[in-house]
Amino acid sequence: MAKRIQFARTGGPEVLELIEVAPAEPGPGEVTVKNQAVGLNFIDIYFRTGLYPAPELPSGLGTEGAGTVEAVGEGVEHLAVGDRVAYAQGPLGAYAERHTLPAEKVVALPDAIDCETAAACLLKGLTVHYLLRQTYPLQGGETILWHAAAGGVGSIACQWARALGVKLIGTVSSPEKAALAEKNGAWATIDYTREDVVERVRELTGGEMCDVVYDSVGKDTWELSLDCLKKRGLMVSFGNASGPVEGVNIGILNQKGSLYVTRPSLNGYADTREQLEWMAGELFDMLESGQVTIDIAQRYSLAEAGEAQDALQGRRTTGSTILLP
Ligand SMILES: NC(=O)c1ccc[n+]([C@@H]2O[C@H](COP(=O)([O-])OP(=O)(O)OC[C@H]3O[C@@H](n4cnc5c(N)ncnc54)[C@H](OP(=O)(O)O)[C@@H]3O)[C@@H](O)[C@H]2O)c1
Repeated sequence: MAKRIQFARTGGPEVLELIEVAPAEPGPGEVTVKNQAVGLNFIDIYFRTGLYPAPELPSGLGTEGAGTVEAVGEGVEHLAVGDRVAYAQGPLGAYAERHTLPAEKVVALPDAIDCETAAACLLKGLTVHYLLRQTYPLQGGETILWHAAAGGVGSIACQWARALGVKLIGTVSSPEKAALAEKNGAWATIDYTREDVVERVRELTGGEMCDVVYDSVGKDTWELSLDCLKKRGLMVSFGNASGPVEGVNIGILNQKGSLYVTRPSLNGYADTREQLEWMAGELFDMLESGQVTIDIAQRYSLAEAGEAQDALQGRRTTGSTILLP
């Protein structure tokens, strides 16, 4: 038997239950991973609350983890029992001691990367890869605005942007979070609880504004984010921490300067085995070269998954959070 978190109805953290199940045997093309660490991500909260519908209820939760391959299904070529691996996509159910998923979503870990680090950064780091390297292939020298710069994805983005020679202006909600983002390489920070974001961006850029805005906050920041862009700039709306952006009149893009907008997701970029291998390889290179380091600022037991989600949703976390089965 193995422990897993499941939820039978959507709602607050109280809907999460820790139960014991017989782990699924891997079918053709699948592997079972014995998790050493599980990554906590905001998307887990969207599934728990029902903003993103789980395919069925009761459902497992979580898509990110790292550990050791314990069983291999028929036809799996690239993995063997005992391999150290990580994953960030696939069926819900990573909040568990063991998780069975398609092997094509699983990558082998280099010796230098431990399982806790991998679980803390694979989903977030692959996301930063596609946002900075693919959605808008930054060349260096651009100015970008990044909301939630001291968070899990944000902490990696600050470091990666610095490595690319990009000026990242990060928004944060406290002086402590500002200091953290700056330590990670943010060129400047704006504390949106005391400062006007658009005015500060105008000052910091000498009126030029930003080439790209990366907005994972959603509802609360949509319009101010558009106001931080240059003419023909790109708005990348990639999350809903404050709720989804709804009821948009597309004409606003014209009024605010012939802007572009995209609403991307990791599954739209790491969509083939080759893409996943390439993106994970570049992320691992960034870690191994020390250009990106992962700050695991919170650790919880699996049983404390609800508490961990409550802290993430309540803006009381910085960097990455992992659950330890
Ligand atoms: N589309 C994709 O492929 C993709 C992939 C990964 C993550 N994401 C998105 O990226 C975002 C960051 O994910 P994460 O797991 O790294 O979380 P996180 O950034 O560690 O935590 C969310 C942060 O958002 C800020 N925030 C602003 N308004 C908020 C509100 N109303 N409620 C809660 N937080 C608010 C808070 O920072 P301050 O206190 O500084 O405001 C908070 O710490 C999420 O929106 C997530 O959905 C998208």
